[in-house]
Formats: sequence, structure tokens, C-alpha cells
Amino acid sequence: MSAARPIRLIGGKGGVGKTTVSTALAGAFAARGRHTLLVSTDPAHSTADLLGLPLGGEPVAVTDHLEAVEIDPEAVADAYVEAVRRDVHRVVSPEVRTTVDRHLDLARRGAGTLESALLDRLADLLAGAGSRWERIVVDTAPTGHTLRLLAMPEVLTGWIQGLVRQREKARGVDRMLRNLAGDETAADDPVLERLHAQRQRLARLARHLRDEAVVHPVLIPERLPIEETVRAVAALDEAGLTVGALVVNRVLPPDADGAFLASRRAQQQEYLDEIARRFAGRDLVQVPQLPRDVSDATGVAEVRDGLIPLLAD
Ligand SMILES: Nc1ncnc2c1ncn2[C@@H]1O[C@H](COP(=O)(O)OP(=O)(O)OP(=O)(O)O)[C@@H](O)[C@H]1O
Ligand SMILES: [Mg+2]
Repeated sequence: MSAARPIRLIGGKGGVGKTTVSTALAGAFAARGRHTLLVSTDPAHSTADLLGLPLGGEPVAVTDHLEAVEIDPEAVADAYVEAVRRDVHRVVSPEVRTTVDRHLDLARRGAGTLESALLDRLADLLAGAGSRWERIVVDTAPTGHTLRLLAMPEVLTGWIQGLVRQREKARGVDRMLRNLAGDETAADDPVLERLHAQRQRLARLARHLRDEAVVHPVLIPERLPIEETVRAVAALDEAGLTVGALVVNRVLPPDADGAFLASRRAQQQEYLDEIARRFAGRDLVQVPQLPRDVSDATGVAEVRDGLIPLLAD
């Protein structure tokens, strides 16, 4: 690959080490003097725990070149709906406000809203890639299939279409009410405008990711994670996203001794061989199994070395 891409999306099955790897990778970029943003989309605050400092919706400084932010989709969705409500209330008559409120309350609870809010905020932050931040590393949450959404924001376009249809129906009622109130100025509908703008933003995000992002799948040398990763990589390819080096986490180090560990290591080696075969032609990096959980900066630093090849992707 020519110039290194600024956006890195760390994906993978639950518990394989996404948070550990993304924190270590962001730290590695920062240690090289790259101004880096680490983005967590996990409501469980696991990145904050690992960094040992509270994170919120706005980026905070972690070290000299590292900032971190945690996206809380619930909070973003609430703020978004409230902003729309305020705007709309300013421009519509009191009679119409009730139908608008009903529409917004439905939309807030509807499927897809949280995902849309998450992508919206992510798009804001990713817009700073290459300017405000030289690198942005995104730790994708285990739930919500963030990576699938990132690969196919089109999924959400269908959802927005649904809201548009719902809104158009409600608008028929609005018009009737306006006519009854003697108000003939059928102004442009601010809710529909917002929905159209939202769809355009998602399409832009998808293009931006295809041009500027690399996905690094994380897996562990075991049967199911291998199968899942084969499927995920195929889906990412199909969506036009660039898959970079795969991170094979929790590889037992050669000096792990004892008969039990020797046997585990032999088993792992079979899976590592299989990974090499099934991902032939792709870059693979290994991260060793540490003797204890990675729970602080020291542990993160131990993981960092294995990730050095990713800095150049
Ligand atoms: N190389 C490693 N050596 C030892 N422990 C590790 C290693 N990688 C991850 N762990 C531990 O495994 C657990 C899961 O790791 P992590 O939280 O990074 O996974 P995740 O993929 O982000 O999980 P989730 O899907 O729940 O977000 C943590 O307790 C972490 O400390
Ligand atoms: Mg995690």
C-alpha cells in the first residue's frame, strides 16, 4: 500500500482483544509523534478503564500526542432528537408541533436510531482524519455490529427511507391542520430536510471510509474465531473496505513451559498454520498471550511491539 491510511478500524468477535489492540495501536502511533485519536464505541467504558481515566463525548488528552473519546449512542441520539425538535418548533405552528413531537418520539425509539446516532458522531470525528488528527483508531463495540454498519451504511439508508415515508404521511396531516388554521404557506418540511441530509452524510461516510480507512480484524487462534473472520473479511471486501493486517492475539509464547502448555501450544500451532493458509496473501501480525489480563499502561505497552507493522499500513 502506498501512503499510510489515517483511519484504522479494529474489528472482531466479542472478547478477542479489540479494546486492547486499539488502545495499544493508538499508543504506538502517538509514541511515534503522530497526533492520534482513539475512539471507543463501547458503552461498557472498557477503553476508559484501560487508560485509567474517564472518557466522555468530547476528546480529552491522554498523553502528548494521544486523545481519546467515547461515543455514547444513547446520549447522541437524545441530543440529536432534541436539536431537531428545537429547530422544528421554531418554524412550525403550535398545531403542527404535536404531530412533529409524535414523529420524533417514534423515531427516537425506533430501530436504527442508535446506530444512526453512532455513525453520525463517528462521521464528525472522522472528518478530522488527516487534519486535526494524523491517525484515528476506532475500537468497534461488540454489540450493534458497528463494523457491519461501517461497511454498509446503506443498511441505514433503508431505515431513513422508512422515516421519510412515515414523515410524509404525517405531513399530510400537517397540511390539513395548516389549512384549517388558514395557514397556506406550505414551507419546506424541516424534518424531511434533516432526513435527506442524514442520508447524504451516511453516503459521504461510506465513501470516506472506502478511501481513507483500513480495517484490522483481530482474532485468536481458535476454530470459531477463524471461521467468523473468514466471513467478516469476505463481507468487508465485498463492501469495498480495505482489509489490512490481521492481528492474531493471545499466541502462546515459546517459553510458556509445562506439559499442559506445550500441548496447548501444539494445538495453537495447528490453528496458526490454518490462519496462514486461509488468509494467504494477507499480512498477519501476532500478539503474545500475556500471563495476566491487560489492565493498565504497562500491559498495553507489552502488546504494542507486535503491532509495529500496522503503523505502516
Ligand atoms: N494478549 C493478551 N494477553 C492477555 N490478556 C489479554 C490479551 N488480549 C486481551 N486480553 C484480555 O482479554 C480480555 C478481553 O480483551 P478486550 O477487552 O481487549 O477484548 P474486546 O474484543 O475489546 O472485548 P469486547 O468484545 O467485549 O469489547 C481482557 O480482560 C484483556 O485484558
Ligand atoms: Mg472492547
